[in-house]
Amino acid sequence: MVELALPKNSKITQGKVWPKPEGATNLREYRIYRWSPDDGKNPRIDTYYVDMDDCGPMVLDGLLWIKNRIDPTLTLRRSCREGICGSCAMNIDGTNTLACTKGVDEIDGPVKVYPLPHMPVVKDLVPDLTQFYAQHASIQPWLETRTPAPEKEWRQSHEDRAKLDGLYECILCACCSTSCPSYWWNGDRYLGPAALLQAYRWLIDSRDEATGERLDHLEDPFRLYRCHTIMNCTQACPKGLNPAKAIAEIKKMMVERRV
Ligand code: SF4
Ligand code: SF4
Ligand code: FES
Repeated sequence: MVELALPKNSKITQGKVWPKPEGATNLREYRIYRWSPDDGKNPRIDTYYVDMDDCGPMVLDGLLWIKNRIDPTLTLRRSCREGICGSCAMNIDGTNTLACTKGVDEIDGPVKVYPLPHMPVVKDLVPDLTQFYAQHASIQPWLETRTPAPEKEWRQSHEDRAKLDGLYECILCACCSTSCPSYWWNGDRYLGPAALLQAYRWLIDSRDEATGERLDHLEDPFRLYRCHTIMNCTQACPKGLNPAKAIAEIKKMMVERRV
């Protein structure tokens, strides 16, 4: 399902096979994508062996074990290790997911770890998410109001608040957008499922007063309409959200405002 974009004329080569830790009897093999912008070499796959009796159960635990015990040059992002910050998103065993919530025991055979597909790579497992964040900013992910601010707070009924469930939980990990073929091919112009899920979150917020302008911004052959309902995004989301449905709802709003 997932294809990896490599720089032109490059290929992934077999990298170093690191020695097994001495005396360990419960080993798991990790095969990890390595690439550094500093050495001018092609990407390679390094092989490591993790002592599972000395390591936590998640893929992230193994990566940090490798970094701390074997190879400090291995580069990755992580922060919360709780599935909340979204920074440890990577391609594990062929699927985009969070390294901190993916159990090693969910994987048969070697644990294969690559950066999120079709994004420029900063180093090893760290993708460059500059454009992804800019696309999120472009949908103006904040409350827009026109009427004078109330003395205390913008109020919302329980029913209207419930409409945000399944949307506000997004942690902007980019697993969905980087598994979307439309985003792979048109990522510079198509906003992608993560930004569009957030666009919908603000479109249906009962307190927001910029619905028309928000829809105008999305009324574009690329920003919204490059979604072809392939559903990879929904399958990939590690938080169980449904960006494809949110995109369909935006398209429905577009039609409804025309009639
Ligand atoms: S449903 Fe749309 S956004 Fe989701 S993967 Fe398919 S084309 Fe991409
Ligand atoms: S919708 Fe899901 S996969 Fe996409 S950025 Fe949000 S949390 Fe990540
Ligand atoms: S480290 Fe925060 S989501 Fe994995």
